[in-house]
Amino acid sequence: MKLGAITLPNTLFVAPMAGVTDRPFRQLCKRLGAGYAVSEMVTSKRELWNSLKTSRRADHAGEVEPIAVQIAGVDPAQMAEAALYNIDRGAQVIDINMGCPAKKVCNVWAGSALMQDEPLALSIVEAVVAACAPRNVPVTLKMRTGWCEAEKNALRLARAAEGAGIAMLTVHGRTREQGYKGQAEYDTVAAVKAALGIPVVANGDIDSPQKARQVLDYTRADALMIGRAAQGRPWIFREVAHYLATGELLAPPTVREVRAWLLEHLQDHYGLYGEYSGVRSARKHIGWAVRALPGGEDFRARMNLIESCEQQLLAVGEWFDELAAQHERLPLAANDERLELTA
Ligand SMILES: Cc1cc2nc3c(=O)[nH]c(=O)nc-3n(C[C@H](O)[C@H](O)[C@H](O)COP(=O)(O)O)c2cc1C
Repeated sequence: MKLGAITLPNTLFVAPMAGVTDRPFRQLCKRLGAGYAVSEMVTSKRELWNSLKTSRRADHAGEVEPIAVQIAGVDPAQMAEAALYNIDRGAQVIDINMGCPAKKVCNVWAGSALMQDEPLALSIVEAVVAACAPRNVPVTLKMRTGWCEAEKNALRLARAAEGAGIAMLTVHGRTREQGYKGQAEYDTVAAVKAALGIPVVANGDIDSPQKARQVLDYTRADALMIGRAAQGRPWIFREVAHYLATGELLAPPTVREVRAWLLEHLQDHYGLYGEYSGVRSARKHIGWAVRALPGGEDFRARMNLIESCEQQLLAVGEWFDELAAQHERLPLAANDERLELTA
């Protein structure tokens, strides 16, 4: 699949998740089979660009290409400026956020709230496309199915955004009103795919290779985007890729493999955040990795008390060594309600 002049290695994408899909996590997902990853959203507010949070999000040192940065905001001129700022820092694709229901974003009328104001949404798309075109940087858009059940305007907005020059569209099969409740529906995604000439990406509740197959067949989407199911299980991308290619399920990874991936991820994570923040923000990744494994909940509680990177690495390594002594492959997760837990 092509995005402007960029050829993507495959059509399995990591969803942008603020506070989760930072550079170390995106790298890990790409190593384990994801062909494309979009950054956590970066604000279009210039006064925040020098903040630690935003500068970390705009740091792409060593990231496997293509580098795609999502921007969030409400003002067309500011969004255009934010696009250029991120292109200057290495972005090769700019994604506009009209999918996030978070209050922090929607209270200022950004994210999925923009779907309620179609003229403004379209002005933002036009301004960002106009800013990016001279740099040959494709602009993509991520949206939901609409504002609420009674106002599912994804198809109308998708057509208008295609007309305004976006290169790809992702649709999460929920309305803004739903947040993460209920089930994603794929009829709207399928209708958008059927109506558009640009690539359409299906997103929402894809949590297994079989579900990926179903969503792909049902929507006929050009690509799939996976978010929450990759938390603590970044190898889901290679599992999905294998199943889509062969119709067969890949064996679970060995405990030793998972141990090595997690320890490498932690080192990379500490490198970006430093000791104090790193050890704390790493806890959620460790928690996700162990929660469905035997004894995982106990370990999670114990691990949350550790305050140094060295001790955290040691504890994780030892815990997985003990697990490896009992299981060669990762034991199958019983009652792993991954999507429920993390929404
Ligand atoms: C913790 C978290 C943070 C998210 N942050 C963003 C974001 O910054 N931008 C965005 O477009 N969507 C964001 N999303 C939505 C996801 O990209 C995705 O659309 C949603 O989780 C549905 O996909 P899934 O069912 O595979 O998780 C976030 C979701 C979660 C759970």
